[in-house]
Amino acid sequence: MSALPTPKSRILGTGHYVPEKVLANVDLEKIVDTSDAWIAERTGIRRRHIAADNENTSDMAAAAARRALESAGLNAADIDMIIVGTISGDSPMPACAVHVQQKLGADNIPAFDVSAACAGFIYGLTIADQFIATGAARCVLVVGVELLSRLLDWQDRTTCVLFGDGAGAVVLGPSEGDGRGLFATRIFTDGSLAHALTIPGGGTAEPLTEEGLAKKRNKVHMMGQEIFRTAIKNLTSASTAVLKASGLTSADLDWVVAHQANLRIITQVADRLNFPMEKFVINIQEYGNTSSASIPIALDEAVRDGRIKPGQNVLMCALGAGISWGAALVRM
Ligand code: ACO
Repeated sequence: MSALPTPKSRILGTGHYVPEKVLANVDLEKIVDTSDAWIAERTGIRRRHIAADNENTSDMAAAAARRALESAGLNAADIDMIIVGTISGDSPMPACAVHVQQKLGADNIPAFDVSAACAGFIYGLTIADQFIATGAARCVLVVGVELLSRLLDWQDRTTCVLFGDGAGAVVLGPSEGDGRGLFATRIFTDGSLAHALTIPGGGTAEPLTEEGLAKKRNKVHMMGQEIFRTAIKNLTSASTAVLKASGLTSADLDWVVAHQANLRIITQVADRLNFPMEKFVINIQEYGNTSSASIPIALDEAVRDGRIKPGQNVLMCALGAGISWGAALVRM
C-alpha cells in the first residue's frame, strides 16, 4: 500500500447546537396531507428541530462555534478565520459569518460564507485546510448552519417534511506530525442540475414581487427523485475519490458521517462502498435534513458520546443544491 498522505490540518474541537422546539411527523400530519409512516419509511425522519421565533441563523452558528472552541480548549482570540457554510443566513447581505464573528467577540479576522447548500461544510473544510496547508492561517473555525424552516413552503408536503434547523462546527488547526488530520478532501459542482433544487425568487434574476411571494418563489423548490438518484451516484464517487487520494480502502475506515438527507440514500451508498451500515453515524431520525449543518452535528454527537475516538479514520460526504457535492477523509 502507498504511504499515507501527511495531513496539514487536523480537527482540534467539535460542537453543535440544535433548537429546543421539536416538530414530530405526527405534528406534520395536522399541517399537510402526509403521515408518520410515509415520512419514516421514505426518509428515515421521525422529528426535526425548529428555531424559536427570536432565534437567528447566526445565533445557532455562534452557539455551535462556542462549543467547538471549548472542546478545543481555545477561545475566540485564537482563531484567525471564520468560514460559515450556509444558504439561510440572517440576511442576503452581509455574510452570516460577520454576525458570528461579532457574537463570538473574535478579532478583525476574515469571516465569510460559502454557498454550497448541503455540501457547505465540506466546502468550508476544504478551504480551511488549504489556508492552513499554505501557512496563511493557523486556526480556522468552520461552521455549517441552516435555518431552513423559514425558507420552506409549509403547504408543500414534498419539501416541508424533510428539513430541520441546527448548527455544527469544528475548529481546524495545524497537524502535529502524528499522522492525525485531514488526509484528503474533494469538492465538485454540476451546474446543469441547478434547476433541481432551488429558491428561485429573491435574487437579481427574479426580484420578489407580490405575485412571486404568492407563488412561494422565495421558498425551497425541489425535484426530489432527480436529486435522490444523483446523490447516490455522486456521494459514492466522491467517497471513492478521497479514499483513493488517501491511499485507503473502505476496509480502513472506522466511521462514515454522510449528509443526513434520506436514510435510503445512505443505505445505497453503504452498499456501493461495501461498508456496513452500523459504521454510519445516523441521526436523521431526530433532526431531518439540516443541510450544511448535518455532518458537523453528527460528527460532534459521535465524538461526544465516544463512538468516534482519537486516531480513527472518518469519511464524510455530502451533496446538495447546485448541485454541489464533496467528501473528506480525516484521521481524528
Ligand atoms: N407525504 C405523503 N406522500 C408524499 C409526500 C409526503 N410528505 N411527499 C410526496 N408524496 C407522494 C408524492 O406525491 C407521490 O405521490 P404519487 O405517486 O401519487 O404521485 C408519492 O408520494 C411518491 O413520491 P416520490 O417523489 O416518488 O417519493 P420518493 O420516494 O422519491 O421520496 C423524497 C421523495 C423523500 C423527497 C426523495 O426523493 C429524496 O429524498 N430526495 C433527495 C432529497 C435530497 O437529498 N436533497 C438534497 C439535499 S437538500 C439541500 O441541498 C438544501
